[in-house]
Amino acid sequence: MGINTLIICIVLVVLCSSPANGQLTSTFYNNTCPKALSMVRAAVKQALAKEKRMGASLVRLHFHDCFVNGCDGSILLDDSANFTGEKTAGPNNNSVRGFDVIDTIKTQLEATCTGIVSCADILAIAARDSVVELGGPTWRVQLGRRDSRNASLSGANSQIPAPTSNLSAFISSFSNKGLSTKDMIALSGAHTIGQARCTTFKGHIYNETNINSSFANSVKANCPSTGGDNNLSPLDVQSATVFDNKYYVNLQSQKGLLHSDQELFNGGSADSQVTTYSNNRNTFFRDFAAAMVNMGNISPLTGTNGEVRKNCRKPN
Ligand code: HEM
Ligand SMILES: *[C@@H]1O[C@H](CO)[C@@H](O)[C@H](O)[C@H]1NC(C)=O
Ligand SMILES: *[C@@H]1O[C@H](CO)[C@@H](O)[C@H](O)[C@H]1NC(C)=O
Ligand SMILES: *[C@@H]1O[C@H](CO)[C@@H](O)[C@H](O)[C@H]1NC(C)=O
Ligand SMILES: *[C@@H]1O[C@H](CO)[C@@H](O)[C@H](O)[C@H]1NC(C)=O
Ligand SMILES: *[C@@H]1O[C@H](CO)[C@@H](O)[C@H](O)[C@H]1NC(C)=O
Ligand SMILES: *[C@@H]1O[C@H](CO)[C@@H](O)[C@H](O)[C@H]1NC(C)=O
Ligand SMILES: *[C@@H]1O[C@H](CO)[C@@H](O)[C@H](O)[C@H]1NC(C)=O
Repeated sequence: MGINTLIICIVLVVLCSSPANGQLTSTFYNNTCPKALSMVRAAVKQALAKEKRMGASLVRLHFHDCFVNGCDGSILLDDSANFTGEKTAGPNNNSVRGFDVIDTIKTQLEATCTGIVSCADILAIAARDSVVELGGPTWRVQLGRRDSRNASLSGANSQIPAPTSNLSAFISSFSNKGLSTKDMIALSGAHTIGQARCTTFKGHIYNETNINSSFANSVKANCPSTGGDNNLSPLDVQSATVFDNKYYVNLQSQKGLLHSDQELFNGGSADSQVTTYSNNRNTFFRDFAAAMVNMGNISPLTGTNGEVRKNCRKPN
């Protein structure tokens, strides 16, 4: 190889690995908004001091953002007279929450470093900080995502997994996003925190047999067979505000709240990984952190694509 070819190759490698070319980096705001990370952390801490469930809600917002057109802040866009976003999609309507917390963070960041930190990145940082605040693992959040000017209601309806689906459907829906089965099983451990509405698990507790009967009875007390659709139950019966590995321990004794939860331990190919996580919290923590980084990498807008919204609820 000649020296000129070598130089061209080096230049190409440098260009191709620069943030402008699609890669996220953990130091993206170090020069442009050095306080970004500490400001988000403080705001998340404050929000969780008011309501611990908010940590779960913020984690889920990031997930539902990333699964529709990539992690581009699309879920945050409000409907308006000439725009329909994702907020009324089946998996989101009357269900996703935390928008006010994101607004508060955005307002603070705009006051300190105007036009720098994207809403999509705020979601990724707030999700990590929520997990840490509730006792879970930490990881370096990759940054540099930009915000979309659009959203996809149909994408939100078809690409976010449904609680009535089976294991093979979950494997393919995560695979469609570039995530492995291992990532899918680890990410499902996010259900160690937060709440679900009766309507999402009614069929499982009344009509299915792969559920511990005394657990089913206790959940039925707050989820009648007709009505009560918005009544809440904890996804992790043991510790809904602590990020631990109890979700997997519950599955071992058929105490998954959602049909989809118990699908991960129902005599199928996910059983052994669930057993590993139920026995080893640190293995779960390590895999969850790695999987969150992978999920946060789904089709980000970078470089000059998209924009940095001033207000997370509407395009600039
Ligand atoms: C495997 C497929 C999944 C299905 C079928 C599923 C389904 C659901 C459902 C039905 C709820 C209750 C929603 C409601 O009643 O309003 C819920 C809540 C939740 N989900 Fe998932 N989910 C999945 C994966 C994930 C992933 C990958 C994450 C994050 C990494 C996640 C995080 C959460 C959290 C934290 C909550 C509680 C939210 C809160 O309390 O506000 N889920 N999920
Ligand atoms: C970037 O900032 C973070 C925290 O603000 C710090 O931990 C890290 O060392 C910085 N990295 C570089 C390369 O400056
Ligand atoms: C949508 O309508 C608002 C006023 O209601 C207007 O400011 C905005 O430019 C419109 N957007 C598009 C894309 O037409
Ligand atoms: C969303 O929920 C509201 C009730 O809060 C309901 O009136 C509306 O029809 C729902 N939208 C969709 C698209 O399901
Ligand atoms: C899982 O559900 C899909 C439809 O979503 C169906 O085609 C498939 O047969 C089901 N697989 C099993 C093993 O039940
Ligand atoms: C249980 O299954 C029966 C028969 O398919 C159905 O009529 C009923 O609505 C189901 N109940 C719930 C709570 O899903
Ligand atoms: C069901 O849960 C109850 C209460 O935690 C427990 O005592 C019982 O052993 C469980 N049954 C099975 C079959 O796992
Ligand atoms: C949304 O906008 C991005 C670029 O900002 C574009 O790549 C994508 O195709 C658009 N998606 C839809 C559904 O219009």
